[in-house]
Amino acid sequence: MEGMAAILYEDRLGCLENEIPQKSQDYIAALHLMFSSFKMTMYAGAIPKWLRTIIPRPWEEFCSSWDGLFSFSQIHVDKRLGEIQDLVSRGEEVKGGLLTHMLVTREMNLEEIYANMTEMLLAGVDTTSFTLSWACYLLARHPEVQQEIYEEVTRTLGHGTIPTADDVPRLPLIRGLVKETLRMFPVLPGNGRVTQDDLVVGGYFIPKGTQLALCHYSTSMDQDNFPGADDFRPDRWIRKDATDRVDNFGSIPFGYGIRSCIGRRIAELEMHLALTQLILSINQPAVFPDRKQP
Ligand code: HEM
Repeated sequence: MEGMAAILYEDRLGCLENEIPQKSQDYIAALHLMFSSFKMTMYAGAIPKWLRTIIPRPWEEFCSSWDGLFSFSQIHVDKRLGEIQDLVSRGEEVKGGLLTHMLVTREMNLEEIYANMTEMLLAGVDTTSFTLSWACYLLARHPEVQQEIYEEVTRTLGHGTIPTADDVPRLPLIRGLVKETLRMFPVLPGNGRVTQDDLVVGGYFIPKGTQLALCHYSTSMDQDNFPGADDFRPDRWIRKDATDRVDNFGSIPFGYGIRSCIGRRIAELEMHLALTQLILSINQPAVFPDRKQP
């Protein structure tokens, strides 16, 4: 959350401080309510409007958590807007990232900017943190893989280095680790599309306008797509040479096409760097040669 907010709001939230500021704490509570009431969200969507007066709770909780998230974004967007206005009034140059760009170009109105910032922060927090948790879990369960990655990272970067984006292409196993983690534990269980044309897929006729649901988990654990699909093998994603293609449509955790995940590059970079740092912080390689993996 701290990382995503630094990118999106161009500001720090203080989540890594000993005393977390109250506003950030309130946001965490709203986010928690949002996810803990995810079941409620399903009900909120399923309950027709006329029934909301009789069963009001899911809809009320849904709205109140969104209000909490929006007001948090509003505080940060308004703060940056104020800073930009100050710079402009002093005749100084305005420099910044995505939010600054949105505020300066005004291709979106303020309401739309609040909404985009809220959506992106919401989409960027649990996705990356859950994937990092699964990656740590998988490394802990497979010390031999952990050792292999440890050797790659320390050989390439050496101890005491702070990895940067430029180092990532030199760490194929770290990239494989993230891909393999998302193959085995895709954050979003599925994806949806509505067909734009009549199609024939796998011998089935699918008329235009059909709503399709794709289950990531079933395709990414399918033996036909990934031989030894139950095995945790980050090295399956390493290219053997320049002609080798390891792209595999059996695993598309970020979706595909024009509506695929807009945060993919940020998410991948954040996870690559966090895992590299974590591996570098290991003082002693964790190899237990005698231990059989369950
Ligand atoms: C492990 C990390 C992440 C995973 C696995 C993930 C996965 C996905 C998936 C599957 C979709 C739907 C794509 C499709 O329909 O083809 C999506 C959409 C989206 N994601 Fe992510 N995401 C991640 C991180 C992020 C981050 C960090 C951000 C924020 C910058 C973000 C923002 C979005 C947005 C805004 C959309 C909607 C895009 C649109 O509808 O055009 N995601 N994500």
